[in-house]
Amino acid sequence: MLEKLQKAPIDPILGLTELFQRDPNQQKINLSVGVYKDNLNNTPIFNAVKKAERIILEKEKTKTYLPISGLPEFCEKTQRLVLGENCKICEEERVGTVQTVGGTSALRIFADFLRNNFGHKRIWIPDPTWENHAKIFQMAGHEVTTYPYYDSLTQSLNWYSLKLTAEKIPSGDVMLLHGCCHNPTGLDLDKSQWEEISNILNRKGILPLVDFAYQGLGDGLEEDAIGIRIMANNVPELFICYSFSKNFGLYNERCGALLTIGENKEFVQKALSQIKVVIRTNYSNPPSHGAQIINTILSDEVLKIEWLEELNRMCQRIKDMRCLLVEKLKEKDLNKDFTHILKQKGMFSYTGLSKEQVKRLREEFSIYIVESGRINVAGITTQNIDRLVDAIIKVI
Ligand code: LMR
Repeated sequence: MLEKLQKAPIDPILGLTELFQRDPNQQKINLSVGVYKDNLNNTPIFNAVKKAERIILEKEKTKTYLPISGLPEFCEKTQRLVLGENCKICEEERVGTVQTVGGTSALRIFADFLRNNFGHKRIWIPDPTWENHAKIFQMAGHEVTTYPYYDSLTQSLNWYSLKLTAEKIPSGDVMLLHGCCHNPTGLDLDKSQWEEISNILNRKGILPLVDFAYQGLGDGLEEDAIGIRIMANNVPELFICYSFSKNFGLYNERCGALLTIGENKEFVQKALSQIKVVIRTNYSNPPSHGAQIINTILSDEVLKIEWLEELNRMCQRIKDMRCLLVEKLKEKDLNKDFTHILKQKGMFSYTGLSKEQVKRLREEFSIYIVESGRINVAGITTQNIDRLVDAIIKVI
């Protein structure tokens, strides 16, 4: 049977790290996967996380299964983190949350829940978007189509076309938006654009799905949630896929959440019961460690402050590297302008480098960048930046 198989292409993001690891060049640089690096090129564990783990080690009394929907206290805390401490939707019990295996499984659970209960749908994703989005929904049997997001001529958000397309999306379709720090462009909607898009979706009966994987890596924890909160208050139904990989540095703990907002408690409970069926028939119930860490940190004022300070320092280093990259490219007095990079937020920078230039960077300089030209700014250090800038200059 297996001889009939076709070999699948390597993953456009994680596959690059496999290639990177096999590259013998001592000077190699990996700017592909969205993982934070400090200036020594390590991905450290947050101190707050280490402290929480010590508490858990002491206190944990059992390894029995978590409920299908995960650790209840974690789900409650996640809702408050996303929707705010004084959230009316939470008080009215119009939101229900399940713990998921990272942000990716939140997306896949949503996709399976949708197909199981409402059949094959059309999902509108931004062009460009995270490489995995289209495949997740296609694998679940949905049709995927794109809406314009980025204007490569002006290197800015294509708000006009985005809005125009949203107006044409048929009722009952699903529109995926990024909560903040859009991956890969780093360009987000502003407050009034969130208001406008949520009004369009509400008026037209389009179901919003927000992928929220970078809270706290843009303008701040509360600031980054402004768009989602506007959406939550303006539409009757909303799904949110959340990841704790970046803002708690818990990549390999695979900890995320799927939030369901509905018109009333009864509808939400019905949806949760169906979401639990999807989880039970997939991985039964989630692993506990990541959720316990988050719950421990968010339950303890001192640990919470320490975590926030670490998150802010991480953010600041990314911002510093972004500025330094543009500064160093500017010093070279090129014909090409890179100042658009300064307007982008979060972990990534959409450089404008072409596929061919990205290929040359990899083959000639062992610098690994996603084919779209997306750079993980967090992978730049004061040690590798000059080599990176020199290589960019050689390929453009
Ligand atoms: C990325 O976009 O690099 C990250 O979200 C990691 C991943 O799973 O692709």
